[in-house]
Amino acid sequence: MNKKIYVLVLVVIFIIISNLVFKTKKIKEKEIFEPNFTFPFYKEKLKEEYQKYKEETGLSLKESIIRVNIGLNHPFYENTKQTIDKGILTLVNKYNYVSKDYVPKDLITINEIKINKEAYASYKEMKEELSKEGLNIRIISAYRSYIYQKALYETYLRYDKKEIVDTYSARPGYSEHHTGLAIDIDNGIQGFEQFYLTKEFIWMQENAYKYGFILRYPKDKENITGYKYEPWHYRYVGKEIAKYIKKHNISFEEYYYEFIID
Ligand code: DAL
Ligand code: ZN
Repeated sequence: MNKKIYVLVLVVIFIIISNLVFKTKKIKEKEIFEPNFTFPFYKEKLKEEYQKYKEETGLSLKESIIRVNIGLNHPFYENTKQTIDKGILTLVNKYNYVSKDYVPKDLITINEIKINKEAYASYKEMKEELSKEGLNIRIISAYRSYIYQKALYETYLRYDKKEIVDTYSARPGYSEHHTGLAIDIDNGIQGFEQFYLTKEFIWMQENAYKYGFILRYPKDKENITGYKYEPWHYRYVGKEIAKYIKKHNISFEEYYYEFIID
């Protein structure tokens, strides 16, 4: 090939490639800087954090925005804030705490266990349905005060290092049990740690959502919830939302930051 033609071809190829790169970059910028119309949960003040997180993780724009809104671009227990009381949708997790003296509304006491009134009514319906199939569940823990959770967490610290305890116990103020909307259950025969082996657990996996309960700390969401799988811990969110969460296989955090929004 003539030398001049060769150089010309190279120049043309260079121009085409740089154009493509430039265009892709522009699309990316457009996507990140103008998503407010597509995503109502987009927060202008977090723009740079979304961008950084998206680049670091390679996640989709939507997922990056939701995860940054959750707080996951910071380590657990950093950048925390007092949660906003949203009734049965109140979020308490490693970024959202309740004050030391927080006592939720609508608590009732049943056999020395305190629990949210609506959650208990639905729990009772669920338990009755289960018993029709010869199965049984019982609540072993529901509402916990700050002081109770503090004692619990400190007891665990006697046996395990803090990094380990943090994978299975909430620090005081950060437990969902403070809301009265979380229940730990077993079948009255095997301990709660064996609950995953029971017929009751299989039933709960298939049906709990119909009564407004979600498995709050699933296996595949540990990096979002910050907790190891807890087959015994359920959270009441109401029937409609529980159904949505189950159908879409998302965590309560993902639901909250897509639809409830602080
Ligand atoms: N075990 C759950 C995470 C709690 O301590 O609230
Ligand atoms: Zn629990």
